[in-house]
Amino acid sequence: MDKNWLNFKTVIVTGASSGMGKGIAEKLIKVHGCNVIGIARSEKKMKTFVEELGEYADRFSYQLFDVSSLENWVDFRQYLEDNHIKPDILINNAGILPKFDKFQHYTIEEIESAMNINFYSAVYSMHTLLPLLLKSPSAAIINVDSSAALMSLAGTSVYSASKSALKALTESMREELRGKCYVGIVCPGFTKTDIFRNQGSSDEKAQKMLNMVSTSCDKMVKLIMNGIGKQHELMVFGKDAAFMNYFGRMMPVLGGRLFSAVMKMSKLPLFDGVFKED
Ligand SMILES: NC(=O)c1ccc[n+]([C@@H]2O[C@H](COP(=O)([O-])OP(=O)(O)OC[C@H]3O[C@@H](n4cnc5c(N)ncnc54)[C@H](OP(=O)(O)O)[C@@H]3O)[C@@H](O)[C@H]2O)c1
Repeated sequence: MDKNWLNFKTVIVTGASSGMGKGIAEKLIKVHGCNVIGIARSEKKMKTFVEELGEYADRFSYQLFDVSSLENWVDFRQYLEDNHIKPDILINNAGILPKFDKFQHYTIEEIESAMNINFYSAVYSMHTLLPLLLKSPSAAIINVDSSAALMSLAGTSVYSASKSALKALTESMREELRGKCYVGIVCPGFTKTDIFRNQGSSDEKAQKMLNMVSTSCDKMVKLIMNGIGKQHELMVFGKDAAFMNYFGRMMPVLGGRLFSAVMKMSKLPLFDGVFKED
């Protein structure tokens, strides 16, 4: 095993039942000898992951709860204390992608749900667990954000708002905790995972487009692990994310207009709710 600060740590990973969270948990366990506590809601997916881990399964345990409730985080902290578990690293990765749509098409419940899962979950986890994490000499928090925090496009108002809030919070914490806790933020671009399940992405044209712009989940996990391993503080991964980062900074208004126009011109059913007249 190469020398790496991640080796043999105790890590909490939210959204460890699928996609990037599962990939990150697997690498932490198999490559770095970590003990991982995964958090998600689906027991079926967690059990499948345990089976897939085979001989490594004893380094993985899971807790099933909704990360968007503060109460669940308070109970989880109690569980850690009762069982003398001392976490070193918290990876906030659980998230949802609301269907691409116009802002006024979302119900208030849908908006609150996205904010609660994508943003408040991290607020709650960091607020409840920070005192425990800071007892570790290698305390770390890594928040999996999104390229949607780098530029807001038509159809992504709610998702971008939740991820922009997470980015702002993480960046302040990075400076407040400098020297005591490594705080990293990852902004992946489109990545092939199940997160698109509600997007009507079974449409053949949409699938082709997503395939064209997406990074494979394995590759994204490798990039993330490499970035975290080097304690990078801002990680923008994927060509689409790099473009959004550049245009978001250099042409904050024109960039959003240009990208949104390309989405409209694509005439993909994926974006029907955004661009079709009501
Ligand atoms: N895929 C992309 O293109 C992309 C791009 C940029 C950023 N991201 C971000 O990357 C992160 C991981 O996404 P992914 O693509 O790997 O998606 P995914 O495969 O759908 O995984 C999402 C994970 O979050 C968990 N989760 C969702 N809501 C939860 C809740 N309320 N409570 C507890 N767990 C919850 C899910 O577990 P259960 O269903 O078992 O609860 C699942 O394990 C997300 O934050 C996402 O916003 C993804």
